[in-house]
Amino acid sequence: MGIYTSQLDKHLQAIEQALPDYLPETSGRAGVVAEAMHYACAAGGKRLRPVLVLEWMRLCGGEAEKALPFACALEMIHSYSLVHDDLPCMDNSPMRRGKPSAHAAYGETMALLAGDGLLNRAFEVCLDPMNSSGLKSENILKATYLLGTAAGFDGMIGGQTIDLANEGQRIDEDTLRELHRKKTGALLVAACQLGAVLADADEAVVTAAETYGAHLGLCFQIIDDVLDATATADQLGKPVGADEINEKTTYVSLFGLDGAVEMARQETAAALDALSGFGQEANDLRALTEALLTRIV
Ligand code: IPE
Ligand code: IPE
Ligand code: MG
Ligand code: MG
Ligand code: MG
Repeated sequence: MGIYTSQLDKHLQAIEQALPDYLPETSGRAGVVAEAMHYACAAGGKRLRPVLVLEWMRLCGGEAEKALPFACALEMIHSYSLVHDDLPCMDNSPMRRGKPSAHAAYGETMALLAGDGLLNRAFEVCLDPMNSSGLKSENILKATYLLGTAAGFDGMIGGQTIDLANEGQRIDEDTLRELHRKKTGALLVAACQLGAVLADADEAVVTAAETYGAHLGLCFQIIDDVLDATATADQLGKPVGADEINEKTTYVSLFGLDGAVEMARQETAAALDALSGFGQEANDLRALTEALLTRIV
């Protein structure tokens, strides 16, 4: 994929290795849903959110490894959101991360339960005393609260609601911005905040993480909208043209391709600006921020 420096690639490897171990075993009478949970979290995604958790932890002076349970928990919530997003009652998408979507592989019932299972597992992992070593209890609580808020009504769930409730209708820029900020931005903001909070960073640094994540998050969904209109299914590992078929208002439908790309550029610049308080130690994050934009320019 080529979006990660070697430093960030180390985080990626750590996540790929640790994530399956935080999921339930596939034996027993309910094993099939555990299998679907593993399937939904299997390699194939970019792992952007957990990489951001680990990098913000490192950037703020913490040991990246200690944030691994939280990074994996966030990836579980993201993966669950994709399982549900692909269901016939939502975006009705047969393919994800280059494979059949979870419901295409396991049926709708198991996909629904696997999503619910991943959401709950994420909080079990965050609050498991076995995973708390070297972290302050108050920071664990704070991080878990931020994660719950970002995944919930004020974040991803609220955004998905605005997205699905407005299919087939034209929405204005303010509504679209709120939709993107919640459905995609919130989890990306949480990723950055979690790393900073777990590293016990100062309030001002946590705020910088939040500002960076908010611009990156909006940019990321604009890029996703552009790629839906310009890339191939092979490149993305998911169907393209889905937004038009589902009659979604996107940055592309509202501002055209050039307008959307220009807005992604502006958000990238704003994200980089939020890193201005850091020195060379933030160069990997700067490189990632720019690499995400080069997916569309
Ligand atoms: C896809 O997210 C859904 C959006 C929020 C745009 P990603 O593009 O991060 O998907 P994966 O995890 O790499 O598959
Ligand atoms: C999904 O947005 C965001 C989620 C919260 C899952 P999209 O519906 O645009 O994501 P893709 O394009 O299917 O990955
Ligand atoms: Mg969707
Ligand atoms: Mg979708
Ligand atoms: Mg999309």
